[in-house]
Amino acid sequence: MSTIAKRANKIEVPDLMEGHGWHPLSWNDKEIEQLPEYPDTAELQAAFEELKSLPPLITSWEIEALKEKLARVSKGEAFLLQGGDCAETFDACRSPKLVNLLKVILQMSFIMIHEMGTEVVRVGRIAGQYAKPRSKDFEEVNGEKMLNYRGDLINSFKPDVEARKPDPRRLLEAYQKSALSLNFLRALSDEGFADLQHPEQWELDFMHNNEFYKDYESMVASINNAIKFMETITPNRFNTIHKVDLYTSHEALNLFYDSAQTRRVPRKQGWWNLSSHMVWLGNRTQQLDGAHVEYLKGIQNPVGIKVGPPFDLDNLLSMLDAINPSHEAGKIVLITRMGHGQVEKNLPSFIRAVKQNGHPVVWSCDPMHGNTYSTGNNIKTRKFEEILDEIRMTFDVHRSEASYLGGVHLELTGDNVTECVGGANGLNEDGLSHNYETYCDPRLNYEQSLEMAFLVAKEWNRSYR
Ligand code: PEP
Ligand code: CO
Repeated sequence: MSTIAKRANKIEVPDLMEGHGWHPLSWNDKEIEQLPEYPDTAELQAAFEELKSLPPLITSWEIEALKEKLARVSKGEAFLLQGGDCAETFDACRSPKLVNLLKVILQMSFIMIHEMGTEVVRVGRIAGQYAKPRSKDFEEVNGEKMLNYRGDLINSFKPDVEARKPDPRRLLEAYQKSALSLNFLRALSDEGFADLQHPEQWELDFMHNNEFYKDYESMVASINNAIKFMETITPNRFNTIHKVDLYTSHEALNLFYDSAQTRRVPRKQGWWNLSSHMVWLGNRTQQLDGAHVEYLKGIQNPVGIKVGPPFDLDNLLSMLDAINPSHEAGKIVLITRMGHGQVEKNLPSFIRAVKQNGHPVVWSCDPMHGNTYSTGNNIKTRKFEEILDEIRMTFDVHRSEASYLGGVHLELTGDNVTECVGGANGLNEDGLSHNYETYCDPRLNYEQSLEMAFLVAKEWNRSYR
């Protein structure tokens, strides 16, 4: 099947387009991967201008705070937990989903803090993770050829030629859904924190089958004792710890969305993407002269870069020089996603070269995207044990290179879905169809996520304690 054009619609927004160097729309002159053309440029321009005029979702000082925390991670003083859906959907902007996701990320972080005795920086794939790269531009449904679904930010999941055309109104809906999600998450992490980690909120029964059950049970008891202790000594419940930080992130893929929210801030240098605290560059949009790298060169936010096949080390080093020429600490998170069979062969040379070039990066491991496969029934899944294997091997390689693996990047949900096989509950391929919800990649469910947090902490202790 044919491929889509490598040029995005050309828009003109004079007050963003300062000078001849970098500006929030300078990417618009470059070739772009993974973004189909909008049918109507005037409509796109109108949506862009509307989005550009709306208030920011986050602030520059939050971005600075995250960067400082990531700088601590890069020095081995903290650990990064980044996780959430592969693709958020507009329909899933609902209370239970958001509560469950916040709950699972918080509980995972408590497990890590307790087991590792180190600060944990929480970053959700949330409040903007609506655009997806796809390996095929088109698909055929009932004999009709149509664009592939690329996430709710771009087109509809509905298999219909019209619904699959990119629709610029989705830029505004994504902004609205992100704002609603963020508003609720901020309220929950300010005041609902006590409820979210109360003893009865820990659902542990599944761990009975696990060899670590005793450790796990005593860990939760100890976390709960610590919480009760805080309750007893502080007159206002959780006076000192009632607020938890959760930062947001998404893939900077649809650059119309990101650049419309890239702003100047009073009394500060540079341009800030105020749609999200952190954004990342996917594995398929890393062309040095391409639009995505161009955009990321100019923003102040921390930037994640996926590191995977085809393992082009020179390209990675050039991207680091381009995106972080001043070697600022806390700016870059390198997220390796090699596949469990590729880590030992490819990771050591990357670690050595980055070190030799003096780039102060955070190393994180995405053990999901290199380990996806389809079952005989054509269901996309991942094996818990292979995910864990990639994490183990990544820790091993970092340890033997005297390097610090400072984070994990996971696709997960707080719901009881059946998308990945394995784990303590022993979900097998036959069980996948029970509650398979994802529109994109398979996620760890609540139980698998807690178990993974516990096992990541074990690996970290094995390497760095
Ligand atoms: C993702 O994180 O959902 C993703 C598509 O990852 P990658 O770019 O590493 O394939
Ligand atoms: Co994914």
